[in-house]
Amino acid sequence: MKQTFYIETMGCQMNKLDSELIVNQLIRCGYRRTDDPDQAGVIIFNTCSVRHHAEDKVISKIGQFQRPRRQEDDFVLAVVGCMAERLGQKLLDDYRQVDIVCGPGQLHRLSAMIQQVRENHRVNRVISLNDPDQNDELEQLDVHHQRIDIGVPFQAYLRVMRGCNNYCSYCIVPYVRGPERSRPLENIIAEARRLIAGGVKEITLLGQTVNSYRYHKDTREIGLADVLEAIHEIEGLVRLRFVTSYPRNFDERILQAMARLPKVCPYLHIPAQSGSDRILKAMNRHYTAAQYMEIIDRARAMVPGFTVAGDFIVGFPGETDQDHAETMDLIRKAHYKSCFIFKYSPRPGTRADHKMPDDVPAQVKQQRLRQLLDLQNEISYADNQKFIGQTVEVLVEGPSKKPHLNITGGPQPSSTDSKNSPNLQLVGRTPGDHIVVFSGHENLIGKLVSLKVTKVSALTLFAELLYVS
Ligand code: 5AD
Ligand code: SF4
Repeated sequence: MKQTFYIETMGCQMNKLDSELIVNQLIRCGYRRTDDPDQAGVIIFNTCSVRHHAEDKVISKIGQFQRPRRQEDDFVLAVVGCMAERLGQKLLDDYRQVDIVCGPGQLHRLSAMIQQVRENHRVNRVISLNDPDQNDELEQLDVHHQRIDIGVPFQAYLRVMRGCNNYCSYCIVPYVRGPERSRPLENIIAEARRLIAGGVKEITLLGQTVNSYRYHKDTREIGLADVLEAIHEIEGLVRLRFVTSYPRNFDERILQAMARLPKVCPYLHIPAQSGSDRILKAMNRHYTAAQYMEIIDRARAMVPGFTVAGDFIVGFPGETDQDHAETMDLIRKAHYKSCFIFKYSPRPGTRADHKMPDDVPAQVKQQRLRQLLDLQNEISYADNQKFIGQTVEVLVEGPSKKPHLNITGGPQPSSTDSKNSPNLQLVGRTPGDHIVVFSGHENLIGKLVSLKVTKVSALTLFAELLYVS
């Protein structure tokens, strides 16, 4: 039996973390990870359901396994995560080649499920969907979280809560990840300590609506500000971030913690989704554009160096040119560092899909998407210009994936042209989440460096090394 597995991850940070926990689990059970699907005895797709397109990609990947297989063949194909939860038995019915369907709330069972399928020589296929009563076992996966050697090794995600209660009318998340459950503070701290002891320098706390973290201990109510404070204390930690914030009931203590605690980055990812109050109401978001702006303005006034990123959906049912113009207005006012913009994609089972026809034509969605992207690019570029000549502090992540950017479009840092130079094009981030590319030696990876910005594009700052902090 091949004790090797291959895992592919679609979707958000939560899924990336889930995949890491799956890797941890399978390694504990004696499996070895491979990057080559052809070498793997087990193939796992950790899937996303947030937009139709994400699901399509998985379906076409599953399609590639349609070759005939013998019963004694012990190869196992597992579809896990949000799409597994959403489609459940249908995945087994429609795709003979799928052996395991496992929702995000059942991932602790994955190794046992693989074992079960193999013992039955793939005669029985198994399915496990959400069961909120099994939280303890699921929690143990997070408790045993260990960073693995993919991505940037000194950065880690740490979940503070699961699920979501908001039921925004377009969103599948509450259906596939269940209701909101905050993790015990002591487990979060123990996990952070272990990650940091293992060399992690930057932790990003994850929650679907991370600012609504609430945990009750004795008579005390613990909020996200307390989590930030507790993790901030841990020696060896350099930076602490948290995503994604929900623009309602935003506890001022979180902003105070951001302003006061030097390791907490002055950055919020806080989706607005629309700038039109009418559309926000139809989206069931429970705030107006003006209330959203109040939070952003307050954060900007309280937190030095504050930056903000947002999400928007274009082409929500009934969205008019006027609604779209209001979204453009909000983007101008909020002055985002960057925006993630998505075309509305109806998700079966959601209120919007049930009650509202997807009536904005595809080409109008495309046009609105383009307009918002262009507007945000303009804002980001103008904003980035202000960095020229400034010093920024960057945690160096590794070699730049797009070194050509700095050679063709960007400035020419002193020592990039020589092939024999020990210098690489490196990439890192500022506390405000600006991406910076500069030339430096690979031994700077994982260090905090001070850089002088020499040139900018809308997405990237280009800089020269001043000194290592
Ligand atoms: N269609 C398009 N975008 C969506 N998002 C969530 N659901 C949908 C959908 N049905 C976007 C939101 C959210 C981000 C993670 O994905 O902007 O903030
Ligand atoms: Fe989805 Fe809304 Fe929850 Fe975000 S807050 S996960 S958009 S339901």
